[in-house]
Amino acid sequence: MSTDKLMLQVLTGKAGARPPVWMMRQAGRYLPEYREVRATTPDFLSFCYNPEKAAEVTLQPIRRYGFDASIVFADILLVPDALGQRVAFEEGIGPVLEPVTDRAGIDRLSLDGVQDHLRPVCETLGILKGALPPETTLIGFAGAPWTVATYMVAGRGSPVQAPARLMAYRQEADFAALIELLTEATADYLIAQAQAGAEVLQLFDTWAGSLSPSQFRKWCLEPTQKIIEKVRKSVGAIPIIGFPKGVGPLVEEFVVETGVDGVSVDTNMDMVWARDHLSDKTVVQGNLDPLLVVAGGEAMERATLELIELFRGRPFIFNLGHGLIPETPPEHVGRVVELIKSA
Ligand code: CP3
Repeated sequence: MSTDKLMLQVLTGKAGARPPVWMMRQAGRYLPEYREVRATTPDFLSFCYNPEKAAEVTLQPIRRYGFDASIVFADILLVPDALGQRVAFEEGIGPVLEPVTDRAGIDRLSLDGVQDHLRPVCETLGILKGALPPETTLIGFAGAPWTVATYMVAGRGSPVQAPARLMAYRQEADFAALIELLTEATADYLIAQAQAGAEVLQLFDTWAGSLSPSQFRKWCLEPTQKIIEKVRKSVGAIPIIGFPKGVGPLVEEFVVETGVDGVSVDTNMDMVWARDHLSDKTVVQGNLDPLLVVAGGEAMERATLELIELFRGRPFIFNLGHGLIPETPPEHVGRVVELIKSA
């Protein structure tokens, strides 16, 4: 593994001369060149399973902005699809799945075909490995079991993840079986991505913040810890970043208990608190408000510079608090990257 990559250096706990920068959803609809390629495959899942097209849109933001890291183009809902659940993406609605609500639904899912089904993502990683500039770090990812389960149970995005939270209370054994299945599938998938060339892995737990602390420990923290243990046992010391979105000060316990190498924090995180409470060895990633990148101008520039100053001398990765949104003017992204690179 190359050590002259800024992102990998920072993930060993050493501060960089400047923070490395990448942005969640850096490949996406805010880019005209993405919309152009995307239009050639209307079905979103087929698009994700097309290694040439997925690699092409992954590379677009690298060419345009020179980000320090590149995240493979895919989606967290490929795992339920690979487990045999019916998954579709509908224009203007988002993901629609056949809800899994009981033991019979869970029993219809199977780990057997998962690796074969997800092989195209590994092929995308293989193309990227040969196509990225030498200084760019390749990130693989998966959704964390809790967040993926919220979609599997509700059958779509749900405001406060009520269907999954209710299932966890009312049918705890069934819900635990679903989380266990996802924990296995996710660990195997991340191992395959590492073997295919991913140099860093990120686990997205977008809806961790809707759980009470005890439920958070059971459905987010413990499965994440198991996944990390299994991945490390199989592929060794690959850097892993967790993103337990919306959990506030529980992020400290998350870092200590799961053994992540880095933690991505959302826009609501008080970064002064994070700097002062997390160990100075903790690699923190975040957390510019994606809406500030829509707004642009002086407010965006000030917040960018403040974040850099706050974490100067610490192992810090510049990112957003959540993904870029389609309304983002591409030139605002360019301005943020320019400010960081001259910091
Ligand atoms: O650039 C990158 O960050 C890599 C690609 C990536 C996508 N989704 C592509 C995508 C990543 C890392 C994800 C993660 C993801 N997917 C999450 C976790 C992070 C987060 O954003 O909270 C979640 C919850 C999903 C599930 C998902 N995928 C939803 C709810 C939607 C529909 C909403 C929307 O934005 O349209 C998607 C679709 C999706 N995934 C798009 C992209 C670029 C948009 C689809 C399109 O091109 O039409």
